[in-house]
Amino acid sequence: MKRSCLPKCRLSRILGWLQIALGGLVIIVSITSLLRFYYAGFFLHNEDICRQFYPLKKDFYVADKDAYEGFDIVALSDRVGEVLDKMESLQQKLELVVQQMEKSKEVLDKTTITKLEHKKYLEEEVIRPLYNAHIALRQIRLPKLEGLRNQTMKEDPLINDFITEEIRKYITPKENRVGKKNIYRTEKIFNTIGHSCVLYKKELEQYMDYDIGSYCDDDWNLAQKLMLNGCDPLPRRRYLTRASKVYQKPYPINESLWKLPDDRNVRWGNYQCRNFQCLSSKNPKRGYTKCTGCFEMEKEKLKWVTNSSLPVDFLISDALTIKRGEIRIGLDFGVGTGTFAARMRERNVTIISTALNLGAPFNEMIALRGLIPLYVTLNQRLPFFDNTMDLIHTAGFLDGWIDLLLLDFILFDWDRILRPGGLLWIDRFFCKRQDLDDFMYMFLQFRYKKHKWAISLKSKDEVYLSALLEKPPRAI
Ligand SMILES: *[C@@H]1O[C@H](CO)[C@@H](O)[C@H](O)[C@H]1NC(C)=O
Ligand SMILES: *[C@@H]1O[C@H](CO)[C@@H](O)[C@H](O)[C@H]1NC(C)=O
Ligand SMILES: *[C@@H]1O[C@H](CO)[C@@H](O)[C@H](O)[C@H]1NC(C)=O
Ligand SMILES: *[C@@H]1O[C@H](CO)[C@@H](O)[C@H](O)[C@H]1NC(C)=O
Repeated sequence: MKRSCLPKCRLSRILGWLQIALGGLVIIVSITSLLRFYYAGFFLHNEDICRQFYPLKKDFYVADKDAYEGFDIVALSDRVGEVLDKMESLQQKLELVVQQMEKSKEVLDKTTITKLEHKKYLEEEVIRPLYNAHIALRQIRLPKLEGLRNQTMKEDPLINDFITEEIRKYITPKENRVGKKNIYRTEKIFNTIGHSCVLYKKELEQYMDYDIGSYCDDDWNLAQKLMLNGCDPLPRRRYLTRASKVYQKPYPINESLWKLPDDRNVRWGNYQCRNFQCLSSKNPKRGYTKCTGCFEMEKEKLKWVTNSSLPVDFLISDALTIKRGEIRIGLDFGVGTGTFAARMRERNVTIISTALNLGAPFNEMIALRGLIPLYVTLNQRLPFFDNTMDLIHTAGFLDGWIDLLLLDFILFDWDRILRPGGLLWIDRFFCKRQDLDDFMYMFLQFRYKKHKWAISLKSKDEVYLSALLEKPPRAI
């Protein structure tokens, strides 16, 4: 009896379960679409809404017909164009009024304070919001009619990892206007983002929680943390950065190179110190450990120009005589306040100094000295073309902590940008004695010509290595 019933019973039981499962699925789908609708907001442009609802390519094809059924895009596009025109003319009118008020400022000052207030009111409460609305409206990209029917969504897969609208907007590929293709036949521009941004989603979404076009908090330290952790380059672009309220004009170049900058030109909020004097190595509460003493000009003045007791300290004059007159541009890769670049500048050599603000305003210091700071992390392929640099100098950053594979990526990148006949100056690289062989192999693998090579003891079990190497011409 039981046996004969079995197939039928099983079938109906399976159908029952299937119904329950389907019911559950429907509920889940409705909840998630509601949530997505909520996140999509009202001001997302249509493409975004579609992506929010139909993130999968397959679905998109099926869905786009329904989504736009009975929806007159041409009319919408016309209306938007009309609003844009109106806003533009209104904005021009208002700005004209403000300009006229500006012209008659002296009169304004003396006569009526209310008019001044009126002007301020116009600027802040009317023109700026109007302008923002104008820009926002302009940036809406309505789906193109032909695009709709021929949508081959090639969106960045990372996009679905983020909810914050501004991150999604940043990642979304931007189509060239009027379907133009560039010389590589691409019709879209992709903004880039570090893949490890996904790992630091919480911090990134906190960092990206800002009002477009407005002043952001002075949170570069959070940005630097993200960058150093591989979320680099960062997607926050549409904000105004804060600056020192009492910024002074910089010292002239004949003074700025060897003088501590004006304290008022740095925002100190994220540093332990509040002025340059405080950054002295004598101060135990200076807040940084890399390149201690780099903010003391008396010490800096001795570097690379005075003989030291250690054979690993080469002089700039020695390096330049190897290639007399040939060294004109280069990169100083390390942690420092730009002293190498300053000395080279005195010899008419232009050096770009990489810098991270690790507890002290290294970038600001280099720039205020009148030199070029380059704010890059180790993660980045250097923004220089192949075979372009006459010199790469490195001191103070790379040492025995570095993973050999990471070092390999960095060294090959340096080799790429160094021109044939260019010099690689490894300055006081240090590591444990037992690791020296590994690192020596890393530096020697490129078969550069050895002009100088020196090893000194740093401590009982640590050594310094300095080398001055020349990239050979390559016949390939
Ligand atoms: C769709 O786009 C492809 C390439 O972008 C193009 O070759 C094709 O002609 C388009 N189809 C229609 C129907 O527009
Ligand atoms: C720097 O140059 C300016 C003019 O170019 C000159 O007036 C000034 O005295 C110079 N300062 C120093 C310290 O040489
Ligand atoms: C460094 O020492 C060498 C010889 O040891 C000498 O020729 C050179 O002039 C010295 N340079 C400086 C800057 O003192
Ligand atoms: C640098 O260039 C200036 C101007 O061309 C020249 O007067 C000066 O002697 C040069 N300095 C060096 C060290 O070559």
